[in-house]
Amino acid sequence: MTYTTMGRSGLKVSQACLGTMNFGSAGVASCDEAEGVRIVDAFLGADGNFIDTAGNYSDGQSEEIVGRAIRGRREVVVIATKAFFPQGPGPNDRGLSRVHLARALEASLRRLGTDYIDLYQCHAWDAATPIEETMATLDGFVRSGKVRYIGCSNFTASQIVEAQWAAERAGGTPFISLQPQYSLIRRGIEAEILPACERHGLGALVWSPLGGGVLAGRYAAGVRPGDDSRLGRLLVLPAPSARAWVEDLLNARTLAVAAEVGKVAAELGTTSAAVALAWVRERPGVTSVIIGPRTVAQLEGNLAGFGLDLPPEAVVRLDEVSRSDDLMPVTGMLPLR
Ligand SMILES: NC(=O)c1ccc[n+]([C@@H]2O[C@H](COP(=O)([O-])OP(=O)(O)OC[C@H]3O[C@@H](n4cnc5c(N)ncnc54)[C@H](OP(=O)(O)O)[C@@H]3O)[C@@H](O)[C@H]2O)c1
Repeated sequence: MTYTTMGRSGLKVSQACLGTMNFGSAGVASCDEAEGVRIVDAFLGADGNFIDTAGNYSDGQSEEIVGRAIRGRREVVVIATKAFFPQGPGPNDRGLSRVHLARALEASLRRLGTDYIDLYQCHAWDAATPIEETMATLDGFVRSGKVRYIGCSNFTASQIVEAQWAAERAGGTPFISLQPQYSLIRRGIEAEILPACERHGLGALVWSPLGGGVLAGRYAAGVRPGDDSRLGRLLVLPAPSARAWVEDLLNARTLAVAAEVGKVAAELGTTSAAVALAWVRERPGVTSVIIGPRTVAQLEGNLAGFGLDLPPEAVVRLDEVSRSDDLMPVTGMLPLR
């Protein structure tokens, strides 16, 4: 396993980060505790040291499973968790206010069975809370010893800059990481967000590197996703946004990219998942890639992508098929590792 340094910090993390959004049984999650523990064991056994979760994943079950899975070996794991999305019905049970963050942190510590979080992340921007309040609250967590480093997720470039400047003005703790979506079918961060991360000292810890399974070759045009698949599970959720999310993930463009990934994989004698992950891992500005296995077999398939070097000719083909018109080239960027 290769280790990288997260942003402008001394924190060493494995290039593969274990995402645990599938752990539990609520929402899109469908990985029971026994399999979750086996996945964590296999990941740590492969020398991964970085695990990502969130207070709202599977209504808290993800953090609870992770906490039990790492019991007795807390010190070898870098735990990243997040707050922002609702963790209760009340108006203060969500967002990035001092009141919610303080409650959310205590709840995460309890569920994870630990007295500190290595990387505490704002899951999304909160337009209803002054960023100065959020950054001062997070700085207090670091000073108290309950949090070691702080990061953000799904922020735009200007939000990253606002947050870092607010921390600097107050002499407080800056973010060291951004957690954005990034894959061969979602390359939007290349235009402004990755350059902003580089300029402002944030490493990029990227999510949905397989586009939720699309790039693993799981889906075909005109065929309804099976009930046992991520997109099939999304389709039966009551929220209309879940159906829109699926439609946005499965279209002629994304399936064309997945088909090219499949061709490259066949030529190299490997899997689509390994090819898609190898591509993301090598992109400039990417510090760590959050994989989202639901089974030990998927974990093993994903780890193969971290030992695979794509031939330059394959990278060119993948780059061409996945490039969208509004994408600005990445220029003058150095990898933050
Ligand atoms: N910050 C955020 O807003 C945010 C949002 C989303 C995710 N995340 C984080 O990022 C992590 C990864 O995201 P993701 O789960 O969307 O990642 P992903 O790798 O794009 O998708 C995971 C899905 O792909 C399929 N899959 C995984 N490995 C496979 C393999 N080897 N072969 C075939 N299919 C495979 C599985 O689908 P099936 O279940 O259909 O088998 C799995 O549920 C999450 O666990 C979470 O920690 C963060």
